[in-house]
Amino acid sequence: MCGIVGAVAQRDVSEILVEGLQRLEYRGYDSAGVAILDEQGNLGRARRVGKVKQLRNALTEQPLSGGTGIAHTRWATHGEPSERNAHPHLSCDDIAVVHNGIIENHVELRSMLQGLGYVFASDTDTEVIAHLVHHELKSADSLLAAVQVTVKQLHGAYGTVVVDRRQPERLVVARSGSPLVIGYGVGEHFVASDQLALLPVTRRFAFLEEGDVAEVTRREVNIFDIDGNAVERDITESNVSHDAGDKGQYRHYMMKEIHEQPMALQRTLDGRLANGKVIDEAFGENAAQLLSKVKHVQIIACGTSYHAGMTARYWLEQHANVSCNVEIASEFRYRRSHVFPDSLLVTISQSGETADTLAALRLAKEMGYMASLTICNVPGSSLVRESDMAYMMKAGAEIGVASTKAFTVQLAALAMLTGAIGAYNGMSADTQAQLVQSLQALPSKVEQTLALNDDIEALAEDFADKQHALFLGRGDQYPIAMEGALKLKEISYIHAEAYASGELKHGPLALIDADMPVIVVAPNNELLEKLHSNVEEVRARGGLMYVFADVDAKFESDDTMKVIPVPHCDEFIAPIIYTLPLQLLSYYVALIKGTDVDQPRNLAKSVTVE
Ligand code: AGP
Ligand code: GLU
Repeated sequence: MCGIVGAVAQRDVSEILVEGLQRLEYRGYDSAGVAILDEQGNLGRARRVGKVKQLRNALTEQPLSGGTGIAHTRWATHGEPSERNAHPHLSCDDIAVVHNGIIENHVELRSMLQGLGYVFASDTDTEVIAHLVHHELKSADSLLAAVQVTVKQLHGAYGTVVVDRRQPERLVVARSGSPLVIGYGVGEHFVASDQLALLPVTRRFAFLEEGDVAEVTRREVNIFDIDGNAVERDITESNVSHDAGDKGQYRHYMMKEIHEQPMALQRTLDGRLANGKVIDEAFGENAAQLLSKVKHVQIIACGTSYHAGMTARYWLEQHANVSCNVEIASEFRYRRSHVFPDSLLVTISQSGETADTLAALRLAKEMGYMASLTICNVPGSSLVRESDMAYMMKAGAEIGVASTKAFTVQLAALAMLTGAIGAYNGMSADTQAQLVQSLQALPSKVEQTLALNDDIEALAEDFADKQHALFLGRGDQYPIAMEGALKLKEISYIHAEAYASGELKHGPLALIDADMPVIVVAPNNELLEKLHSNVEEVRARGGLMYVFADVDAKFESDDTMKVIPVPHCDEFIAPIIYTLPLQLLSYYVALIKGTDVDQPRNLAKSVTVE
């Protein structure tokens, strides 16, 4: 779930490990730890609840040094966040293990190992791995062999790295359901759950595949697939920028990422639009052949990515003339559903590693969808590797747990998908050209809208002492209201709900009073008159409204309503534009409330467990 870093080198690796953990902090975690094998063959370990900084302080007071080590940031799934549950876990002071994910059969394994005399020092599921490897080493002739036998007994998801005090200068790593990458240096090697951790020491990476186990020494990396066959995995040169993990001039990654949106969108559109059309190859080399057959689209995603999918349903049905269903991955994977003929399965995911989305993709492949496409921000991620087609988002690394630039880039990608599928389903050349034109105008329109920054900062004061908020939108702005509510909940811990404004009279109107601010997104579209009526319904019941409205939408500020004019934009890109003020609003409210903006409580950036 969270962060893993490992290194085997001639030099002291402690700083590399701690720096690596710091670069993974954005994922959210509750404790951190490190284990290092020194030259005398002793395994030293330090663990702390809280931030990596606390671990670093502990290491300054009592340094650990050595050439082989592993480190971890934990996001507790089994056992409270505490020092004794923090990784690495040891077995008999010989074996040290870090693990991301969940071992589902840990109860059976624990009682079997206790029967063999092993004493458990934590409440985690992970500790069974350490003792199991120790036990298997009584009969296996190497750490690699012991790990290979061990993983066959594990049910669930793991990315794990194992060190044995008695076999120095080696790490054994295994991947199933939780990503791991190997970093290649000169006379030294590294492992991590995310390449970002290793960018200060190498740019050459190989991504392990499902079921792979690898033995990593200073000089060699030997990878074996699920059946134990020696395999090669491509080594690629990373082009992720080294400072992708820096905040630059901003106080928080979230703010940096909000302001990166014009650039991220530009990068995503570059080279993918030409002659008034979307280029099919944006979706993969042979995409044209598949896209031309699509008659139905099934979208699967979670959280913010799901909101992007909800918006796309309005676009695809209205402009591309195909039917479209959208479902949360965790629901889709556990219910019976039916596949329409010529159906394209689309997964949307910033990380490409979300466990529910990945499981839904795997299930859908068995169900007989015509093809699968992923819209994803992380090259080499599981969704990209397992889908037939991939649209790479090029948003750049997103560090803030609250997704911002990934969302608007996902929307741009889905707008392009609408154009690409529409071209084969009767969308006129004029409409295609208009779509392309409004996408081309997007980066500068976004820039212009972000200039609302100061107005929204001032507005945030009104929300900071509130317990609840209601977000309203209609049509393709309804999912944007949902996204606005999610952002506010996530980082300011204010309870927020979103409604399609036509639903107000069916229940939520009962909530309206002066303590419930109502935020309305109101572009100038065909539903504007209807929205005006909904606003009046709220006003008549004494509600306080904040209306983000098109400059021409005829809303005026008064005692009960503050109107924030949003630059006029083409209807097609309006959902992207109206997202921006809502991102800024949640940021500034969180700032006043003093919450941990980039790492909100209880959340993790990449949800690789169920
Ligand atoms: C967004 O702010 C969230 N933190 C979360 O809802 C996220 O969008 C969701 O977990 C899906 O992640 P993915 O896009 O990486 O699959
Ligand atoms: N399930 C393990 C634990 O609770 C690992 C959690 C993680 O992925 O950080 O310790």
